[in-house]
Amino acid sequence: MKGVILAGGKGTRLSPLTYTCNKHLLKVGKEPMIYNPIRQLVSAEIEDILITSSVEHIKQMQELVGDGESFDCRITYKAQQGAKGIAHALLLAEDFVKGDHMTVMLGDNITTHSIKPYVEEFKKQGVGAKVLLKEVEDPQRYGVAVLKEDAITVIVEKSNKLISNMAVTGIYFYDSKVFDIIRATTPSKKGELEITPVNNRYIQLGQLTYNILEGKWTDAGTLSSLQYAEELLLTIDNEIIKSK
Ligand code: DAU
Repeated sequence: MKGVILAGGKGTRLSPLTYTCNKHLLKVGKEPMIYNPIRQLVSAEIEDILITSSVEHIKQMQELVGDGESFDCRITYKAQQGAKGIAHALLLAEDFVKGDHMTVMLGDNITTHSIKPYVEEFKKQGVGAKVLLKEVEDPQRYGVAVLKEDAITVIVEKSNKLISNMAVTGIYFYDSKVFDIIRATTPSKKGELEITPVNNRYIQLGQLTYNILEGKWTDAGTLSSLQYAEELLLTIDNEIIKSK
């Protein structure tokens, strides 16, 4: 199992903090934001991790995070040209993953409890993909999953209509056919290769499972969510809690 952390994008919702600094290097609790997804993957015994970031910030990221030795893992880096979407960034991982399965984390997703149980479940699943869901009060900010009889029937990205309050967190598990699926998707109106059509393709194939994420979760992409992420990580001293 390989780990991939996507830490590119422009971070415009946090400007001016992100004019010169990459969002994932901002402080959350006592550490830079990116440390939390790294610690999360290591807590699930994933030792080979790729970090992608923008061409402008990859060097700064590498200087700060290093080769992974201090986290007990190996970290390699790849630069994404432009902010062309989450799925566009994930395509960069194809050579690194080399046909293996992968756990993908969005670099601005902050979690308190280890995802190890879901990683273990996905290893047993063998083929397809898995997403982790969390009930939220502001579903319009996320991709949300429509559930029927314990299965996801569709994922809808950022709808103003109340379709579901189960957000799809930025923690995904894929087999290696994800790269072919991404190549078959078309850019959204925003001009991005988005991750939701990729997950919907797995639903069509009957190969998307889900779990409800234990513990607290937030993205940290807006000022208020960054502040909440700060509170969460200060409470746990930036350490990942072992899951039940
Ligand atoms: O946080 C969970 C949500 O993340 C999901 O519920 C949504 O379905 C998913 O689309 C995503 O929504 P966001 O609006 O939060 O995505 P955003 O464009 O802010 O990007 C999130 C992370 O992805 C960010 O931390 C960096 C990475 N990213 C993003 C883009 C657009 C890249 O690495 N490269 C990119 O080009």
